[in-house]
Amino acid sequence: MKINTHQLLSCAVAAARKAGDHALANLDRRSEADAITHHDVKLKLDVECQAIAEAVVREAFPDHEILGEEDDHAAIAAPSEEEGVLWPTESDETLWVIDPIDGTVNFSHGLPRWCCSIGVLQGGRPVAGVVYAPALGLLYTATCDTVAACNGEPLHVSDTDALEESIVMTGVDRHKNTRVPPLAVFNAIANTAQRPRIMGVAALDMCSVAAGQADGYMETGIFLWDVAAAGLIVQQAGGRTEILQRDNGFKLQFLATNGPIHEELKGVVLKALGTA
Ligand code: IPD
Ligand code: CA
Repeated sequence: MKINTHQLLSCAVAAARKAGDHALANLDRRSEADAITHHDVKLKLDVECQAIAEAVVREAFPDHEILGEEDDHAAIAAPSEEEGVLWPTESDETLWVIDPIDGTVNFSHGLPRWCCSIGVLQGGRPVAGVVYAPALGLLYTATCDTVAACNGEPLHVSDTDALEESIVMTGVDRHKNTRVPPLAVFNAIANTAQRPRIMGVAALDMCSVAAGQADGYMETGIFLWDVAAAGLIVQQAGGRTEILQRDNGFKLQFLATNGPIHEELKGVVLKALGTA
């Protein structure tokens, strides 16, 4: 029996709600860490929430593949590029991409801006996605054949058509020794946009673009699980997404915009990266 995108989205919503509500209910455990590094933290709740989300998906779709942020990604190499494909897989393969807590550092400090993100890919292309921010009471959803929504209300990107009038959400790559100079990109955005914003949650940043509250999003070192759901939500709200470059494994340079500012923002970023 063919599974439709509505069924996939329903399961993704159930999984994200269960994982996100578990994190919210355990806020008092937010400092229980498995590992703390200079710019990041891995929480026990990251791992617990991923297991909760995975269990919901496995019960509904036992033969589907799952890729979670908390999995071991040691042996993954960069895939070849193909237009519209986020992560190349067999054409009949369904891949669930889970970020159990996006914005883990925010969460660990008690800031409410964090979320659970679940994207579903078929043949490598996003077909359903949910971004659930329980502490904010926001549930963003989309499928490839429906308009994006927040708490059931349709979303639409802004019509801002100049970078100098735009809010651009971004982040600074926390990984040292990267060949991409993230501060150069940040400076370029800060010098050209009306305002840059670093809010610490890539998936919610992109949902803000989908909602027309921000006009663009760009990061030089973001991961597949941060963008799998939110990228689709931007597209289905009328916006545009683009992988500027794939680095090793699941790391991407990723751009998401309302559409009208896409080329201008891309030009600024490529110039800063020295590849224009
Ligand atoms: C991070 C957040 C942050 C972004 C980082 C991500 P995590 O995800 O989305 O906003 O700047 O690149 O890795 O580690 O909190 O799940
Ligand atoms: Ca993340």
